[in-house]
Amino acid sequence: MAGNEGLTPKFTVLTLFPDMIAQGLSHSVIGRAVREGIINLEAVDIRDYTGNKHRQADDYPYGGGCGMVMKPEPVYAAYTHVLETLNAAGYNPPRVLLMTPRGKGFDQNMARELSRERAVVILCGHYEGIDERVMELIKPECVSIGDYVLSGGEIPAMAVIDAAARLIPGVLKNEGSALDESFSNGLLEYPQYTRPAEYMGLKVPEVLLSGDHGKIDEWRRLKSLEITRESRPDMLENKNNKSTKTDTLETERLVLRPVGTEDFEAVHSWCGNPVNTRYMCWGPNSEEQTRDFLTSAQAGRDFAVVLKETGRVIGTCGIYPDDDNDTGELGWILHLDYWQRGYGTELGAELIRYGFEDLGLRRVSAPCAAVNYGSCRVMERNGMRREALHVKGHWARVDKEWIDGAVYALLADEYFKRNNG
Ligand code: ADE
Repeated sequence: MAGNEGLTPKFTVLTLFPDMIAQGLSHSVIGRAVREGIINLEAVDIRDYTGNKHRQADDYPYGGGCGMVMKPEPVYAAYTHVLETLNAAGYNPPRVLLMTPRGKGFDQNMARELSRERAVVILCGHYEGIDERVMELIKPECVSIGDYVLSGGEIPAMAVIDAAARLIPGVLKNEGSALDESFSNGLLEYPQYTRPAEYMGLKVPEVLLSGDHGKIDEWRRLKSLEITRESRPDMLENKNNKSTKTDTLETERLVLRPVGTEDFEAVHSWCGNPVNTRYMCWGPNSEEQTRDFLTSAQAGRDFAVVLKETGRVIGTCGIYPDDDNDTGELGWILHLDYWQRGYGTELGAELIRYGFEDLGLRRVSAPCAAVNYGSCRVMERNGMRREALHVKGHWARVDKEWIDGAVYALLADEYFKRNNG
C-alpha cells in the first residue's frame, strides 16, 4: 500500500486527561524530539466527542458494582475521527493499542516494533474500564505495562511512547546509547560511572580509566551478564533457548564442534577402550553403545574435541544443564595418547566460560573418581572447588568396585568476580 512516505512518526493518545500526556511527555528526550518535529504527539480529549454540554464520558455499570464505566459513543467517535484524520494526512492504517492490565506484557521487542510504525494510536481506559462493545468494534491490541493496577492508561501510554520513541532515528542524539542499554542485547546494562574518579572512598573500576577499549568492552559484557544473572535469570534462560546459540567453541589449540555419527571410529577408539574409560561410571562401550551416544548427541551440549594442528578428533566433552538451567555438569574424555598435555584444562576452561557466559548457568559442577588425579587437576587448575568426597560413592565399572568419588564445583558469582574484579 502506498502512503506513509516522508511522514513523521505519529503517536495519538485518546484520553480523558490530555494534559497528563502533553505535560508528561514535554520534558527531556521525548519533549525535545516533539519540539524539533522528529516525532509527532497528539493527545485527543475523549470528552470533546461526548456530544453533551456536561461533557460526561462515563456512566454507571449495568448489573451494578462500584465505579464508573467509560461510555462507548464518545470513545468510538474520537477513535473514528482520529482514523479519518490520519488517513487524510496520508498515513496507512495505524497500529491501535489499548492500555489495560488485562493486556499482553509490554517489552523492548514491542517498543522496537512500534518505533518502526508511522502511526500508533493508544487508547487509555480510566475508572473501571471502557464499555466492552467498543473493544469489539475497534479490536485494539491490549497491552499491559506490568502486573499491577494503575488508575488509568495514561501513565502506561507514556511509558510505551517513551520506550518506542527513543528508538526512532534522530530522537536520541547518540544512536549508540540505545544499542548499549538494558534489554537491547537480551541483557541488563552494565554499571556506569562519571567523575570524580573517587567518591566517598569508592573508586571507579580501574579498567574504565585504562583507555583500553577492548578490555572495557569485555568488562562491560561480563558485568552485564553478572547483573542479569543476579536480577533477571529468566532473561538468560530465554537466551539459552534461542536456536541461534553457539554450537562450536574454540580455544588456543582446540576446536569444540558438534559431535555426530561420522565421528564413530575416533570416538569408539577411547569409549571402547577399558584403559581409557577406567574411571568413568560408564564404559567400556560396545559399538552399539557408542553409536547410541553419537545418535543422541546434541549440538550445543556434546562436542567433539578437534586438535587444530592435525584436525584429528581426540576426545569428546560436554556441559549438561539440569532442567532449570541452574547447574550444568561438565564431562569429558580424551584419547589416552593425548593425556598430560593440558588439553583437559584448556577445554574445561572453555566449557566453564560457555556455561556461565553463554548458557547463563548459576553453577557448574563436575564429579570424578577421587583417584583420577588427572581430572582432579584439571578441575583445580580451572579454579573449581572440591566440595565433596563421597566415600565409596563412585562405581568404577572397569575394576568392578566402589571407589571414592569427588565433586568439584564453581559458582557464577565466583567466576565473574575472578574474571572481572
Ligand atoms: N491501566 C491500569 N493499569 C495498567 C497497567 N498495569 N498496564 C496498562 N494499562 C493499565
